[in-house]
Amino acid sequence: MSAVLTPGLGGTAQAQVANRLLVFRVDDIHFSYDGRQPALAGVSIEVGQGEKIAILGSNGSGKSTLLKILDGLYFPQSGSVMAFDRSLTEAALHDDAFAFDFRRRVGLTFQDTDVQLFSPTVYEEVAFGPLQLDIGQDEVKERVAAALARLRIEHLAERAPHRLSGGEKRRVALASVLALGPSVWLLDEPTTGLDPRSQSWLVDFVLGRSEAGDTFVTSTHDLGIVGEIADRVYVFDETHQVVASGPTDDILGDEELLLRCNLIHAHRHRHGAVEHSHPHGNYRHADHDH
Ligand SMILES: Nc1ncnc2c1ncn2[C@@H]1O[C@H](COP(=O)(O)OP(=O)(O)O)[C@@H](O)[C@H]1O
Ligand SMILES: [Mg+2]
Repeated sequence: MSAVLTPGLGGTAQAQVANRLLVFRVDDIHFSYDGRQPALAGVSIEVGQGEKIAILGSNGSGKSTLLKILDGLYFPQSGSVMAFDRSLTEAALHDDAFAFDFRRRVGLTFQDTDVQLFSPTVYEEVAFGPLQLDIGQDEVKERVAAALARLRIEHLAERAPHRLSGGEKRRVALASVLALGPSVWLLDEPTTGLDPRSQSWLVDFVLGRSEAGDTFVTSTHDLGIVGEIADRVYVFDETHQVVASGPTDDILGDEELLLRCNLIHAHRHRHGAVEHSHPHGNYRHADHDH
């Protein structure tokens, strides 16, 4: 079965999220940073509670922008974003009760961890979020200890975040979100800079939280992890629109779509005397031997 090739939400996706509580409903949003070049040009997506969604697209297609909008950091110039059945607007986030609830439930890890990490020590970094919550000192300490233990970074507690390796920074960023106890995770290219063991650890982390009922929206162009961290996929292209959506297997099986959206490349190479060309991307490397 081929992927749903309609802009916006495909029929298959719609059926899957029907009867489910929606975490996000994004309807025909347009966003531009400078008022001229679009970063999102009419994007509609839905995210049901407990779903694992991947946002696939090549560089510059609008993935990070969408995640920042879902996190209430930017607001589209047109179209609407609903979060937990409420309109996610600048005005709504000026309502302290809504903002507090939203910030507690939704956590974003940035594509560039250096933007996210700013505290002098890892401990303070992870404690920062919980300290904004209306909880006692003891609970803050417990949450930080639990998050450091879950991410296996207790030994880094007194280190400066900006002096850590890429993989360590990712863990600190995840720990700082985990300490807030979100049920909705927005992960922006979370495997960037991770070695294979850390990548598989990240997949385990997502699957563990997903089994506990959390919702995930993960942007990536790493096809190697999509099969594991997503049930459903939206594909963006350079037009800054959703060009396909559907179950992960359908999207990953649509080679022509992946080629067209620059997620795999046609690669020419020789097998002995025979030269041929065929598409390949990360996920095909493993099952293609020569
Ligand atoms: N801070 C910014 N200022 C101006 N343009 C930006 C900014 N961030 C992203 N863009 C532009 O918006 C578009 C979408 O970018 P982005 O959402 O970062 O894509 P992706 O995450 O898919 O690589 C690109 O054309 C990019 O150049
Ligand atoms: Mg990005």
